[in-house]
Amino acid sequence: AQQIDLAVVAGDGIGTEVVEQGLLALEAALTGTGRTLRTTDFDLGARRWHATGETLTDDDLAAIRTHDAILLGAIGDPSVPSGVLERGLLLKLRFALDHYVNLRPAKLFPGVSSPLADPGEIDFVVVREGTEGPYVGNGGAIRVGTPHEVANEVSVNTAFGVERVVRDAFARAAARPRQKLTLVHKHNVLVHAGHLWRRTVEAVNAEFPQVTVDYLHVDAATIFLVTDPSRFDVIVTDNLFGDILTDLAGAVVGGIGLAASANINPDRTAPSMFEPVHGSAPDIAGQGKADPTATVLSVALLLDHLGLPDAAAKVEAAVAADVLERSGRVRTTAEVGKDLAARIAG
Ligand code: IPM
Ligand code: MN
Repeated sequence: AQQIDLAVVAGDGIGTEVVEQGLLALEAALTGTGRTLRTTDFDLGARRWHATGETLTDDDLAAIRTHDAILLGAIGDPSVPSGVLERGLLLKLRFALDHYVNLRPAKLFPGVSSPLADPGEIDFVVVREGTEGPYVGNGGAIRVGTPHEVANEVSVNTAFGVERVVRDAFARAAARPRQKLTLVHKHNVLVHAGHLWRRTVEAVNAEFPQVTVDYLHVDAATIFLVTDPSRFDVIVTDNLFGDILTDLAGAVVGGIGLAASANINPDRTAPSMFEPVHGSAPDIAGQGKADPTATVLSVALLLDHLGLPDAAAKVEAAVAADVLERSGRVRTTAEVGKDLAARIAG
């Protein structure tokens, strides 16, 4: 299609601020591509929940489905009980739209300071499974509030679900220069799920013999993410391990203000969703302090997904140039957005 139909879920807190800048970057990147942008705003998040009690209705979901992609800012507010918007909105979108690849690149751009003394070259991607694991809500509690309370959260791992994400991770590894895939799990303790993941990686490796495979228990992986992050190329892991590792990865490559993510439906049976890894940061909301760079980098992932790799590269190059020169300068959200859009426009 010549027109990109984008569903915009700005959400809560700094979400609206960073999304505004992300859209400017997107407009700039589309110039000269022959594609035009049409956006539809979806009023979802804390405000809507307070006003109506709704998080994501069937009608919302049906309307979102008709779009080519979704740009999401951030969801969550201290005035809403924990879990309501996370489960009822964000995870519901990921699950309903079958975003089984949660792609989270970790790249240390020149000029960005890492908390590591000697970070070396860091450029890896985490392929986090997005529709299974302990996130599915398979669990329950009994005798709640008593000394004999039992609370279960079952991690669901299906052969179908593991295989499709592992195959996607192999394909990504095969397309990168180092062609290396690291499976992260904890099969010495989580034997059932762990062995399913291991056997699946072994089996799919036969389709991608050029990819070198290794394995790390998740606890050891956290050590290497700090002591030797250069060893990683593509990491594939389950939903919860991936959640934790990607916050650590974000910190290691210069902070969550730069961490982008894509919730991808590789089969394209529903729109994919692009969002910064950071949250709604209610403490700084409305002050123009949020860094929109993570959202702009998420826009690059969006462009790539829509078959516009040149436009995506322009966005990434603009960020690379911007972060190289930012040391010491304090800019507002809008100023960073304007600078990035100007660089993208060339
Ligand atoms: C993330 C977030 C979400 C997750 C929460 C808000 C449900 O931490 O996108 O990483 O756990 O996936
Ligand atoms: Mn997270």
